[in-house]
Amino acid sequence: MSGVTVRVPAKVNAQLAVGAARPDGFHDLANVFLAVSLYDEVTAAPADGLTVTCEGPDADKVPLDRTNLAARAAELLAARHGIAPDVHLHIKKDIPVAGGMAGGSADGAGALLACDALWGLGTPRDVLLEICAELGSDVPFSLVGGAALGTGRGEKLTELPVGGTFHWVFAVADGGLSTPVVFGEFDRLAEGVDIPEPAASPALLEALATGDTAALAAGLANDLQAPALSLRPSLAATLAVGTDAGALAALVSGSGPTTAFLVKDAETATAVAAALTASGTCRTARVATSPAAGATVLPAV
Ligand code: C5P
Repeated sequence: MSGVTVRVPAKVNAQLAVGAARPDGFHDLANVFLAVSLYDEVTAAPADGLTVTCEGPDADKVPLDRTNLAARAAELLAARHGIAPDVHLHIKKDIPVAGGMAGGSADGAGALLACDALWGLGTPRDVLLEICAELGSDVPFSLVGGAALGTGRGEKLTELPVGGTFHWVFAVADGGLSTPVVFGEFDRLAEGVDIPEPAASPALLEALATGDTAALAAGLANDLQAPALSLRPSLAATLAVGTDAGALAALVSGSGPTTAFLVKDAETATAVAAALTASGTCRTARVATSPAAGATVLPAV
């Protein structure tokens, strides 16, 4: 067997409501995840020992040691089954690195599924989801895809119905933003403020369920946007370019610095992406749709 390849989507947060910092340092969230059609591919191939390689425009920014979530996923899965994590993991990276689109989480979920298939383990879905939660707050959603409400620190998922296709443009920034640093800035800005319990917006869930783009645009909300803008003020110019070019709504994706633009159709997406690219306020712009399927084993070629 030459290898098993799994395709895993990026995500955008249609709503990211953040509660006060918990004693364990995490924050309770109401996190409305939406998978989008930008994908990484993770291939697991037989090997002696555990190695990771990566290809793609941002490959030099991806760690190839055991801090890579793909490597950790292989180790955790092997440990559960009492076997050695003998695998070569190759990541074909298309999701922006440290961009707030769960690219690292995608690779963790992808490696988990690919190793499970390569090693013929047939691990039950609930156990795979448990390992995903151990890997990181966003990893369970990378496995599941579609749309889901994440509560707790984002790892407890309730799948959500989606009644249509949504069109997005993503402006990829130069450099990344560290998720813990953005949460830390959230805490700093929230000092002395009474933070409500995070809750999903019924209007937003209704917009997703009915496929109503205008209503979704009106409901998009991200509590990490203010801290991300505080750390990277230049993102405000990117958001303005997309809105001026015809986007229905603009927001920071997750902890940033990728910015997300919801548009009414594919034609507008192309125009907004062109305006963003021409503006010089971002490194590149990508067009995508949602929802997208979660981690999927690709047919052998
Ligand atoms: O779960 P994950 O490893 O992706 O989280 C990375 C960091 O982001 C955490 O160490 C924490 O600082 C922050 N975080 C948080 N609250 C969450 C999720 C992440 O504070 N719900």
